[in-house]
Amino acid sequence: MSYSREKSQPIFDRALNVLVKGVSSNFRYLGDNETPVIAKGKGARVWDADGNEFIDYRLGWGPINLGHADDRVNSAVAEAIRNGTTFAATTPLEVETAELVKKLVPGMEKLRFTNTGTEATMHALRTARGYTNKEKFIKFEGQYHGAHDYVLFSTASSPISSMGSRRSPIPIQAGSGIPDKIRDYVYCLPFNDFDAVEKCVKDHHGEIATIMVEPCLGNIAGIEPKDGFLAHLRKLCEEYNIVLIFDEVKTGFRLSNGGARETYGVIPHISTYAKSLGNGFPVAAFGGSAEVMDVLGGGSVTHAGTFGANAVSMAAAKAVLTILDESPVLENLAERGMRLKDGLDKVLKNAGLAHQMSGHPNLQGFLLTEKPVQEVRDLVHHDGDMYETIMSNMYERGVWMEDDAREPWFICEAHTDEIIDETLNKFEDAVKSAIDR
Ligand SMILES: Cc1ncc(COP(=O)(O)O)c(C=O)c1O
Repeated sequence: MSYSREKSQPIFDRALNVLVKGVSSNFRYLGDNETPVIAKGKGARVWDADGNEFIDYRLGWGPINLGHADDRVNSAVAEAIRNGTTFAATTPLEVETAELVKKLVPGMEKLRFTNTGTEATMHALRTARGYTNKEKFIKFEGQYHGAHDYVLFSTASSPISSMGSRRSPIPIQAGSGIPDKIRDYVYCLPFNDFDAVEKCVKDHHGEIATIMVEPCLGNIAGIEPKDGFLAHLRKLCEEYNIVLIFDEVKTGFRLSNGGARETYGVIPHISTYAKSLGNGFPVAAFGGSAEVMDVLGGGSVTHAGTFGANAVSMAAAKAVLTILDESPVLENLAERGMRLKDGLDKVLKNAGLAHQMSGHPNLQGFLLTEKPVQEVRDLVHHDGDMYETIMSNMYERGVWMEDDAREPWFICEAHTDEIIDETLNKFEDAVKSAIDR
């Protein structure tokens, strides 16, 4: 079955006239005649402009933890905006929301709000540099920390063949427009490689402000840290006076209420949050140790933003955090996520496809591989063509997933057992048809 684009295509043709490639983010463009035009979402489902319905596991690349158009969050936002949205001043709503973040996140002492994950990681990086008076930083290959220049090196989209040897990795700019000279500020290392980090820190510690890490590979099928890896980073940071930043833009308020700090039991100096903090409304934050965060302000380290803590973002975040605090949403999600993960695993096993299940149940994926994958370089073993065929079969059957295994499957509160079972039945069929092709 191929979906009708009778209404979607004319809209996308208009989009191509006014928006570059018809989209507002490079990653959304899937082709002049293929890019979906989504008209609405509710719960775990979305509908395109032609009215075709899909079960959604992309969930806007992760923010939707409660379900699309959640009535509780929408009402809170509608109520708040009656009193105005932007005042260039502290608001009661902002204080209440910050108190909730502090309540839910272990080790959170002081924070600041921003609007996107990109802003949060940009400010966290500057804060770490301001605190340590050092300029360079370590990031991990395959990790994406947003669209500002300093972090756009060796991301999930960078060609693995250009990354050099594991002993002396080459930072790869993610496209043109990023000054070549800032390559000198970053060391890109393989994730989950204890020795590589230790060696880099020992060789260069006098220059390194921060290690910035996504606690799990949120842009590589959710691959999790090896036992002790995050604690190893924390120990090295303590020993060498380096600020540890967890980029929790994907893991925060998704793996558990306390995010990766709680799930993996390691407290960094700073964490960054965005996506699930607002269930689809734009809101972000960065914060952690008061000692480190207190370098902000007073002419010391700059953090600013006209729309920081505006009423729309604060009302959404307060509603989300209150729901998470009052009911075991994320624990329930993990149970259903396990049902999905076990079911997908079983289908792949029965079909005889070599694979590796990956990620936390609330942010999961699988790779079609015979060799273990624990970091981005190992993706050379993954059968991307077969994965794409299966996911395109899923789309044909009304289940919306990325056709690239790097982007994980996200689960939300509205994915009921019935929806998951429906997904699994379709998955069995999609795999069979991919093998028979
Ligand atoms: C781990 C991580 N950090 C930062 C970002 C950037 O967030 P935003 O797109 O809100 O700027 C993303 C976006 O996908 C992300 O996955």
